[in-house]
Amino acid sequence: MKKGQKKIWIVLFDSNLELLNNELLDVSKHFRKMRQEDLGRRGRPDITHVGILNVCDFPLYSRGEVGLIIHTIENKIIFVKDSWKPPRNYINFSSLFSQLLKFGQVPPKGRPLLFISNLTLKDTLSSLRIKKIVLLSSHGNNVNLEQYLTSLKSSTPIAFLVGAYAKGRPRNEILKISDEVISIYDKVLTTNVVLSMLMCYLEKVFL
Ligand SMILES: C[S@@+](CC[C@H](N)C(=O)[O-])C[C@H]1O[C@@H](n2cnc3c(N)ncnc32)[C@H](O)[C@@H]1O
Repeated sequence: MKKGQKKIWIVLFDSNLELLNNELLDVSKHFRKMRQEDLGRRGRPDITHVGILNVCDFPLYSRGEVGLIIHTIENKIIFVKDSWKPPRNYINFSSLFSQLLKFGQVPPKGRPLLFISNLTLKDTLSSLRIKKIVLLSSHGNNVNLEQYLTSLKSSTPIAFLVGAYAKGRPRNEILKISDEVISIYDKVLTTNVVLSMLMCYLEKVFL
């Protein structure tokens, strides 16, 4: 299935993927170099790693029915080639994404598995002709996920935005492009639990 034909896109937004001296900024390593106000928002590439695995391990992704877009805290958009298998090991993930941020694609030459696009998130989603953008947030309207997804079956292509950071409300730029903000549980959940629940119900309801 081609990118333009996918019914469902998962967007990991504000992913903490940025370089410091050619390696991924990581709070566990670079704590002293980080500003207090950035803690919670930056320096957690591990959240993106686990999030990517949570999406790509589902059969929906392996069958090419769900697409993955990684938006970074620096507003870069990363596309992944269909059937790309992410590294399971964090050290390998970290060196792959450092290379991606440095060269704009991996492998650096030839047909890329991953590449950075120059479009904004809004333009990326409109280029994919997304009909509805749903932001998942603990501050959204409470929904029963299964019923909610069932009600969306005729609104495809659809994009689900899930934050890949530790703390804080979604930024205004993200809120502004979202058509709806939904909460799927009455407390804050981790990115990986939200993605697992979403993928699980998408598998059940949509396909
Ligand atoms: C650790 S949370 C970030 C915290 C932030 N307070 C929030 O919920 O927007 C990471 C991401 O998980 C998702 N999330 C967390 N709790 C959620 C909930 N109860 N309902 C829907 N999405 C949730 C959001 O997409 C969020 O950006």
